[in-house]
Amino acid sequence: MNLQVQAGDIATFKGDGIVVYLFEGETALTGATGAVDKLLNGLIGKLIAKGELKGKLGSATIVHTLEKLATDRVCVAGLGKPNEFTLDRARQAAANGVKQLRGAGAHNVAVVASVGELEAEQSAQAIVEGVVLGLWRFRKYHSSNEDLGAIDAVTLIESERAKFDAVERGVARGVIIADATCLARDLANEPGNTVTPTYLANLARAIATKHNLELDVIDRARAKELGMGAFLGVAQGSDEPPAMIILRYWGAGKNAAPGLGIIGKAITFDSGGISIKPSENMQDMKGDMAGGAATIAAMQAIAQLKPAINVTGIVPATENLPSGKAFKPGDILRAANGKTIEVISTDAEGRLVLADALVYATQTLKLAPVVDAATLTGAMLIALGNHRTGVFANDVALSDLIFKIGEETGEKMWTMPMDAEYAEQIKSDWADVKNSGGRPAGSITAALFIKNFVGDTPWAHLDIAGSVGLFSGAKENGYKNKWGNGTPTRTFINLALALAAKK
Ligand code: BES
Ligand code: MN
Ligand code: ZN
Repeated sequence: MNLQVQAGDIATFKGDGIVVYLFEGETALTGATGAVDKLLNGLIGKLIAKGELKGKLGSATIVHTLEKLATDRVCVAGLGKPNEFTLDRARQAAANGVKQLRGAGAHNVAVVASVGELEAEQSAQAIVEGVVLGLWRFRKYHSSNEDLGAIDAVTLIESERAKFDAVERGVARGVIIADATCLARDLANEPGNTVTPTYLANLARAIATKHNLELDVIDRARAKELGMGAFLGVAQGSDEPPAMIILRYWGAGKNAAPGLGIIGKAITFDSGGISIKPSENMQDMKGDMAGGAATIAAMQAIAQLKPAINVTGIVPATENLPSGKAFKPGDILRAANGKTIEVISTDAEGRLVLADALVYATQTLKLAPVVDAATLTGAMLIALGNHRTGVFANDVALSDLIFKIGEETGEKMWTMPMDAEYAEQIKSDWADVKNSGGRPAGSITAALFIKNFVGDTPWAHLDIAGSVGLFSGAKENGYKNKWGNGTPTRTFINLALALAAKK
């Protein structure tokens, strides 16, 4: 898709359609919406008066111009009530607008680049993110997409000359962030017979070469030398070679602090192993590498955006399969920090691969803070559904920052408890800890399990099992596709930017 930024009047755009915005309850039309309304002899105003156009968030109504404008159609995208307006609503409205135009057969469209009172740079960034993420889809395995339409050119138009530079900066940043999110979505949506641990390692190598990142891939033999018994226990049942993928960005230089660590679970297919899952919806477990996908994707964007901070991404990647070689309930594994783990369920594999990744991050690489993302527990989907990610942290400042970033990015978060009382549930009669605490508070006991492997490092764990959308019945919403939506790629990127800005 060709993306351009232009200064000028969107009402003179020659193409298949334009997107303008409307607040709920707005009657005195201003800005681009007002200009277009004038050229249409007040048609938009009339439709508002008749109650046909309400400006509700989620609405996107096409009005035909009958040659009163150079473009064929105007899409009026609702922003909702002015007093409830957020940056993320601009993102959603832009997505709804371009999706509606695509459905109407438009190929070449223009979008108003800044909205309301929002700062132009932020506003343009959000709008371009909405456009790119909204138009994303995963159709590479369909033989024909003819009926779906396609937009191949989008022009973002800013009417105020004084805002143009800011708009250009916002668009440049937004495109990098949205492209990374699309990569994370692609990876989650790809099937397990394409995205294997080796595939992820090769992709990380290509990104490292292109964007000047340092790459290290720890294979089975080296993981053994490093004592990564928890990671290897999970990998044991699969013929696919596992890979602990490490991507490093040195934005503050090698003499500065090792910096931020982002860790993402990448089980490229989770069958449950010997504790095998029911076959119904097991196909969703091709996306059990969504945390790892977000990590690799965020490293790509960070390398392009170049914040002044060191960032390391770690992705423990393996399949979880049953076989004659597979690990079993009752087995005792030893993680790289020496802690022993009794395996209760081979389906609680995510916390095992994270254990060794987190020991490597905190003890070997001395990264701080460290944030992991994992499709860790079905219980998280039960607790928060798919609208918010559960955040578990040993550091309030870190969880507050992540919460705030979530509100801005639209990858909304909610802080979850981690009281020590819950840890009773994961005490083992045979080892230091066991890998399942049963059904009550399943997401909390999973977080408490992982806490055994981070020491004193400021750490936050994001359980994205619900929010990334790996279940049937999830719904598309604005720029968010229904399945494998790229969460928390944008949070990871913005966290790196925020921590760099703080110094
Ligand atoms: N990958 C799953 C969790 C999951 C389920 C993610 C549904 C997305 C959608 C994880 O490895 C798992 O199987 N967790 C178990 C843990 C239990 C055995 C303690 C679960 O949640 O049932
Ligand atoms: Mn599992
Ligand atoms: Zn899993």
